[in-house]
Amino acid sequence: MHNPYNDDVDAMAEIGHKKYLSFSCNGCHGGGGGGGMCPPLTNDAWVYGADDDTVFRLIALGTDELKKQGYKRVRTEVVVGPMPPFGTIIKTSDDLWKVIAFIRTKNPSSMEKVSTPAQTPGE
Ligand code: HEC
Repeated sequence: MHNPYNDDVDAMAEIGHKKYLSFSCNGCHGGGGGGGMCPPLTNDAWVYGADDDTVFRLIALGTDELKKQGYKRVRTEVVVGPMPPFGTIIKTSDDLWKVIAFIRTKNPSSMEKVSTPAQTPGE
């Protein structure tokens, strides 16, 4: 899976940020994604990988289901805990890609890795 907004994530920054706040991601990750009681989204450590496919799955499925599908933590963040599933709260994949585009604007170096999964369970 790939983010259709990768060519211009900056154009989605504001709308993606609004959605990020509307889904209460900020309660755990901070308003700008810098972390808080949960891992920062702005640093180079990506627990399961920085690529689009993995990040989409983590947010939609949550930690428990992602691990059931064979993913393992490949990096340890400052905080280790389960991410809840948002697949039923975020109604469309389009909305989720917009949120991910916002995260990319907060973590520009991760753009280099959107197509390189750190792991590909089941393949
Ligand atoms: C209840 C707290 C909580 C909420 C709400 C939450 N997260 Fe998370 N998130 C976590 C935790 C804890 C982790 C670490 C998961 C792990 O280690 O398995 C995480 C991990 C992540 C990661 C991977 C970070 C990394 O460094 O690899 C992303 C991306 C992410 N969350 C995005 C979101 C988005 C987008 C939302 C809103 C739709 C959201 N989170 C809502 C707790 C939360």
